[in-house]
Amino acid sequence: MAIDTDDKITKNYLTFYVNRKKIIEKHAEPNWTLVYYLRTKLNLTGTKVGCGTGGCGSCTVVISKYNPLTKSIAHFSVNSCLTLLCTLDGCHIVTVEGLGTTHEPKGTLHPIQRTIAENYASQCGFCTPGMCMSLYDTLANCCKDKRLTLHDIEDTFNGNLCRCTGYRPILDGAKKSFADKEICEGLIVEFPKELGEEYVSKPIHLQGTNIEFYRPTAMGQLFDLRKQFSNSDEIYFIAGNTGETFDAIVHQHRYSRLVHLTGISELQQLSEQSNGLSIGACVTISQLKDHVQQYQEQQLFRILSEQLDFNADRQIRNQATVGGHVLNHSRKHTSDILPIFYVCQTKLRFVHLLNKKEIEINIQDIKTTDLNDLLLVSIFIPFLSTDEYLQSYKQAHRRKHDTGIVTGAFRLKLNEKTQRIQSFYMAFGGFGDGVILVPEKTMDYVNKGELEWTKYEVMTNVKNHLLEDVQLDKFSENGQPEYRRALVISFLFKFYLHVANQSAELFQKQRPVSHSEQIFDTSKQTKYVHQPSIHHNAYIHATGEAKYVDDLPSAHNTLHGALVFSTKCHANILSINAEEAESTPGFVKFYTYYDIPPTGSNRFGSIVKDEEVFPSKTVHCMDMVIGLCVADTEEHARQAARLVRIEYEELTPVILTIDEAIEHESYLGPPGQQEPVLETGNIEKGFNKSDHVLEGTFYSGAQEHFYMEPNAYLAQPISEGHYTQLHLYASTQGASTVQESVAEALGLNSNEVICHVLRVGGGFGGKESRNIIPCIATALAAYNLQQPVRLCLTREEDMKLTGHRHPFKFHYKVGFMKDGQLKSVDLQLFANGGCTTDSSLLMLERAMLHCDNIYKCENMRVRGRVCRTNLPSNTAMRGFGGPEALLVAEVIIDHIHSYLQLNDDPSIIRELNMYKPGERTYFSQELEKKDWHVPQMWKKLKELGQYEQRLKDVKEFNKQNQYRKRGLSIIGTKFGIGAPSALFFHQAGALVTIYKDGSVLITHGGIELGQGLQIKMIQITAEQLDIETELIRFHETATDKIPNATPTVGSLSADLYGPALINACEQINKNLAPIKRKHPASSWKELIERAYQERVPLSAHGFYGVPEKFIKCNYAKNEINFMYFTQGVGMSEVEIDCLTGDFHIIRTDILMDFGKSLNPFIDIGQIEGAFMKGVGYLTMEELIQGDSQHSWISQPGSLHNADPNKYKLPMANDVPIDFRVTLLNEHEMSDQAVCYSSKAVGEPPLFLSATVFLAIKQAIAAYRTGREPFLLNVPLTCERIRMACKDEIVDSVVTEDKDHMFYACGSF
Ligand SMILES: Cc1cc2nc3c(=O)[nH]c(=O)nc-3n(C[C@H](O)[C@H](O)[C@H](O)COP(=O)(O)OP(=O)(O)OC[C@H]3O[C@@H](n4cnc5c(N)ncnc54)[C@H](O)[C@@H]3O)c2cc1C
Ligand code: FES
Ligand code: FES
Repeated sequence: MAIDTDDKITKNYLTFYVNRKKIIEKHAEPNWTLVYYLRTKLNLTGTKVGCGTGGCGSCTVVISKYNPLTKSIAHFSVNSCLTLLCTLDGCHIVTVEGLGTTHEPKGTLHPIQRTIAENYASQCGFCTPGMCMSLYDTLANCCKDKRLTLHDIEDTFNGNLCRCTGYRPILDGAKKSFADKEICEGLIVEFPKELGEEYVSKPIHLQGTNIEFYRPTAMGQLFDLRKQFSNSDEIYFIAGNTGETFDAIVHQHRYSRLVHLTGISELQQLSEQSNGLSIGACVTISQLKDHVQQYQEQQLFRILSEQLDFNADRQIRNQATVGGHVLNHSRKHTSDILPIFYVCQTKLRFVHLLNKKEIEINIQDIKTTDLNDLLLVSIFIPFLSTDEYLQSYKQAHRRKHDTGIVTGAFRLKLNEKTQRIQSFYMAFGGFGDGVILVPEKTMDYVNKGELEWTKYEVMTNVKNHLLEDVQLDKFSENGQPEYRRALVISFLFKFYLHVANQSAELFQKQRPVSHSEQIFDTSKQTKYVHQPSIHHNAYIHATGEAKYVDDLPSAHNTLHGALVFSTKCHANILSINAEEAESTPGFVKFYTYYDIPPTGSNRFGSIVKDEEVFPSKTVHCMDMVIGLCVADTEEHARQAARLVRIEYEELTPVILTIDEAIEHESYLGPPGQQEPVLETGNIEKGFNKSDHVLEGTFYSGAQEHFYMEPNAYLAQPISEGHYTQLHLYASTQGASTVQESVAEALGLNSNEVICHVLRVGGGFGGKESRNIIPCIATALAAYNLQQPVRLCLTREEDMKLTGHRHPFKFHYKVGFMKDGQLKSVDLQLFANGGCTTDSSLLMLERAMLHCDNIYKCENMRVRGRVCRTNLPSNTAMRGFGGPEALLVAEVIIDHIHSYLQLNDDPSIIRELNMYKPGERTYFSQELEKKDWHVPQMWKKLKELGQYEQRLKDVKEFNKQNQYRKRGLSIIGTKFGIGAPSALFFHQAGALVTIYKDGSVLITHGGIELGQGLQIKMIQITAEQLDIETELIRFHETATDKIPNATPTVGSLSADLYGPALINACEQINKNLAPIKRKHPASSWKELIERAYQERVPLSAHGFYGVPEKFIKCNYAKNEINFMYFTQGVGMSEVEIDCLTGDFHIIRTDILMDFGKSLNPFIDIGQIEGAFMKGVGYLTMEELIQGDSQHSWISQPGSLHNADPNKYKLPMANDVPIDFRVTLLNEHEMSDQAVCYSSKAVGEPPLFLSATVFLAIKQAIAAYRTGREPFLLNVPLTCERIRMACKDEIVDSVVTEDKDHMFYACGSF
């Protein structure tokens, strides 16, 4: 039944505008998200889906709406993946396509898009439309009355993840174009007049297939609506709809009647009254933030505003309502805001929907109040008296856009004269289902008598009471019991300092605006190569016109797939039952191992075929692909997949960690294979000659690739009689690998399968092999059904299925002399490979060849094993074992330094051990004088970064500050290029085609992942043919053009495909030479026309194989050779909050030797992106699975944090505040490297992020009493930093195994 009132007629359709175009939508389903609608119904695929859960910002669009209360147009960015279309009546939706396009005549690009494109601010381009829209939001909100400050811009991107750029060029580009400049209204997309003042917001009722939607516009309508149903739970309220019920509405249809509240003006009032602030339940968090920000002199407003600044991100704050937050977080989830509301004794005002009576309750009574039929109308926060102290705190895994691990608020009133406590309130978030913890015992104690605030025993008693109130054990949800208890006490201590007016002693969460510098030389001898040139797709990235697999149009008969996964980590499959699934509407077929054709093969493996495409009997880990459901729509396919029932018989043992694998001697590799060993000198003799011998164990964790484009596949069969050509579109790093794997599984010849790759939204190793099984599944279904089938993984599926960087355990024994000179190193490596081999053994090889970093040790033994565990197979990841092993070298040096304590400068011991020109590594590769640049770069960076002076400053700072400490670290790196044991890998093909009009099309086997490979290849072709880059296009990588291509991995592609293209161009130039001689004055176009007339071939296939002399691999003789080493030096200074574990990177300097860089700005982008990825790996990215260290996760082997709301990558707020990158100058460069004297770029700089790890460690050391050495594991999360800052607080929360805490738990 529809709502109807006397004065308003209910609408059963939606009216809105998208990019100035009016849409009347009569068939909207209430569970359609905006992004679904934009992409599938309007074909506006510029808006991307990186997560679908509000965590990444790639789906950002801007909503503009007339606000009758303020009589102005409000512009606000939202995550369109969380926004329901039916809530948008009367809105103007602006997407990236609405800003500008490359289609129209030049000049129609929006300045935002031009800025992002021309400042090298896009790499893979997948996050770019979202970035543009966030910047548009900032501009739109300031165009009327003010100029944008640097600070406004710095804050703009804190809701958007980018995995490629490291954010620096995005921030810099935006600042350069818009900071301190007048922002004119012309930059804002015109608001449709029809939606302005005159627009009447009518009540809405939509009847969908499964769900009804109501939008009342007045309280009366809501009361009437309620009366129509017998039970209150027949209707479900939504406000911002960012709460936990989102998934239940969108995907599970759990609520059949939705009532959207934000159209009711009574719920939107925000007013100051004489005694407090009244906030309508539907006021958004952003509106509250904007309001309180204006009145900083009011203590309550100032504290609220500070806290809100760290609450979620702007997109979420723009959508989420204060009322929704209160109700959502009073029942579950940590809240940033509720602790303040609690200590301020906030009142909640409800109205009863049936009897219309108003009810007011204290916020702390919410847990015990029956909320049936109650509508929250407003929230009332009483003002504080001026003599009260109020403060609130939050510590999250990441500062911005992350829910707190613990949040807390304190409010205190003291007797001014006696300093005795008159009243003291406190409340904490982050304690399981209690949500807001009001520490009863502590409150009783502090409020029972007039205690003396400054007395030592009083604070000690408060602390002890608090610890009793905050009881947690290792089974507590979200783990980290000791850390969370430590945070409560640390917050109390911070509050104590605040009251004592000593806040200046404390770490400041707000950072200054970041800035940067890039220094490089360009070559005078070349026109195109070695010159900075923007990414060849930069403009279409910024307009959203660049297409990724999931953006490709579907043929009318396209079907959709959804995977079925194992839910046990080691079990036999007893039965698979798809009967229920078959009854899903639109169901087509369910595929398992049974459907692999007899001529095909169910065996799979990128190097060793030790796994199955679909398990025929046993599952070896959680989330193995068991089958694929195919249906007419994605929604139906997913529905069906959820209904496939599988019975298991669980098996033992279940091995999850490295230590468990060692205990069970469970290793990957051929049975009976000896442990690989690399050895030089005689380690025993070395130990005997050493003055000191130390041992240590060090763990490093996994890392998720988190490319922004989740894996997607489209398989299109084209049949002609008995012959089928299967076209595959996949987001892969290896087109030929996909082609070969699919052909083998389906029993086809490779010439029947063509894999096409246009571009990939980031890969980092994760799209090399682990993404092939879903591709085979998609191809199998398409081939079998003879219909196109598409499959796009959700972020959660992608994270669970495609493996990670390998966790490692290193055990070392090191002998050294009194002065720190290395004498002997014995090192054992264990990597957690997961359940199959994948590329783990090659990865181990690389790790074993990088254990020296830049240090010479004449006696060295390295042994390594890959553990077989019941986890999804781990795989290649940027650096491929290199950074992990390089880090252990630094850990050993650091251990020696802190053991000897010869001086305060750890760089001295590094210099002492650094390889000298001409010395050989422990695998016999000579570091030839002309090619070993680290010593010289080290000296140069020390000067550039004023190392000596800053080390003194850091010491002085640490003397002056008790609770925040700084550290400064400098390290170098050498990264081997090539894969010594895989010579076949080092080959490449390329095709250059010239058309009669002179335009040139190039292709080769390499794939554009965002690294700028294609622009470099275009530059090389332009240089070789001596033509403008504009004449050259790269279209796609495809297996019918270039066969047997090496996957795009190992930073090698420019080294391989560059020479292959040169080879092709040389052939063409040779063909053209006689005509050029005859017609020297001809233009390029004329030349080609003549060549055509004279029947000269205008297309050539180029080939390149790296000469064998550059790659050696003889383990028996201990002679291994990389092609060369990319080298670099980095320096970072950090400041840590010793009480919480938070930190800032104050400054980073990097100096890299890329030979003669092919494209300096593209390469600097690689340095910055790799550095930030490394910062994530070493600090905040912690993958947590159910294992012995995480007893609170009920399912062993299941990944707990498989989405960006729980797994935290660095954001714009985490970039070094001062970030300087220099490329080694031309005159200092090697002539050894292969392509135009350039060197490989993508992976080597990642390790320099270890400067941050080591600097944090130094800062921790400066806080700890006692100077004994201590070891820290990776990632060095805020938990580990805080717990390593050993003090009274840590001692009071660690009850058992005190030492163990400093190596806090993790999934290794
Ligand atoms: C990606 C993401 C990041 C986030 N980060 C943070 C963070 O860092 N810190 C933090 O504290 N929070 C965070 N949040 C939570 C967010 O701030 C919101 O508080 C929360 O999502 C709910 O707000 P909402 O208006 O969307 O509520 P909704 O989802 O619309 O509603 C929540 C519940 O309240 C009920 N309800 C809503 N309004 C009323 C009413 N007037 N009367 C009666 N019942 C009502 C609904 O039925 C529902 O049960 C995050 C959320 C997301 C999605
Ligand atoms: S896709 Fe919407 S926030 Fe990630
Ligand atoms: S450019 Fe940002 S994710 Fe690739």
